[in-house]
Amino acid sequence: MKRSLIQFLGIMMAVEVCSGFDNIAHRGASGYLPEHTAVSSAMAHGMGADFIEHDVAFTRDGVAVVIHDIVLDTTTDVAARFPDRARADGRFYLIDFTMEEVRELRKGERFNISDGTAVYPKRYPVGRFDFPLMTLGEGIALIAGMDASAGRITGLYPELKRPEFYLQNGLDPVPLFMAALEAAGALEGQRPCFIQCFHAGTLKRIRADYGEDLSLIQLIGENAWEESSDDYDAMRTADGLAEIASYADGIGLPLARIVENRDGALTWRPLKAMIQAQGLTLHPYTVRKETLPEGVSMEEMMAFLAGPDGVDGVFTDFPDYRGTPRPR
Ligand code: G3P
Ligand code: CA
Repeated sequence: MKRSLIQFLGIMMAVEVCSGFDNIAHRGASGYLPEHTAVSSAMAHGMGADFIEHDVAFTRDGVAVVIHDIVLDTTTDVAARFPDRARADGRFYLIDFTMEEVRELRKGERFNISDGTAVYPKRYPVGRFDFPLMTLGEGIALIAGMDASAGRITGLYPELKRPEFYLQNGLDPVPLFMAALEAAGALEGQRPCFIQCFHAGTLKRIRADYGEDLSLIQLIGENAWEESSDDYDAMRTADGLAEIASYADGIGLPLARIVENRDGALTWRPLKAMIQAQGLTLHPYTVRKETLPEGVSMEEMMAFLAGPDGVDGVFTDFPDYRGTPRPR
């Protein structure tokens, strides 16, 4: 009996040195409530997410707002409240509004602006604009408050959206973004904080100007998305990954770039090992019920990602599905 206990303790000590698997709530619990709202964040926290993600864009007066798009028209009632404020392309840009005006808007489930239909029809009903937008400071304060009452620490995962667009529109987003994080206490080390961006030059600038202690994640997209002027095909090569390792701590990239369903079994693609060979943290995005490979369940996907040969964590719209996480 005593020997069994000693063996058990030995196993526990051994697994303690293994890294954990982080469940990163993508825009909060966005599978259940409209993305980037306080209620979505609270639900993710209640589900025990390890990190809660904030995408960040800016108002005309330089306020960091928690929102995925640089436009307001895909997730808010801006077209009804400010019908005359679209640009020539018909879109309503956050940078054309003050924070005081943004306070008048309400957020809802993501919809297609062409016809008002839901992007994800089985989620919170579209056309209901029930929730206010949050500043980045408010989003972080909410997490800190929930951590205080729950007695635990939740990580932050802010993403600076489209820095090149903001520079082209007369606003330097980097000092605004970093100042908002600093003012919210996000850089004091009380909770983990990964800073992410699709633009390599912006991450290099943050590394140079704000220090080696920050945890930086290079997001790799598809060139067709035009998220930045970077060449993501080049980033996925051995040379590209080595370059990323010189200024960033990890990579976030589409799940399909590292996982495939081969003959009915989830299988790693070679890029996964290439990234891990560089010592980079790997956080793929995004696990969604709606976009799982044919025949694969949420439980199976999460268990695969969190398995012994898995990745360090994953962005998910459904943070209640945790897989079988490796112990911390
Ligand atoms: O930041 C990880 C993932 O969220 C990147 O994609 O477009 O959802 O911000 P996106
Ligand atoms: Ca994001």
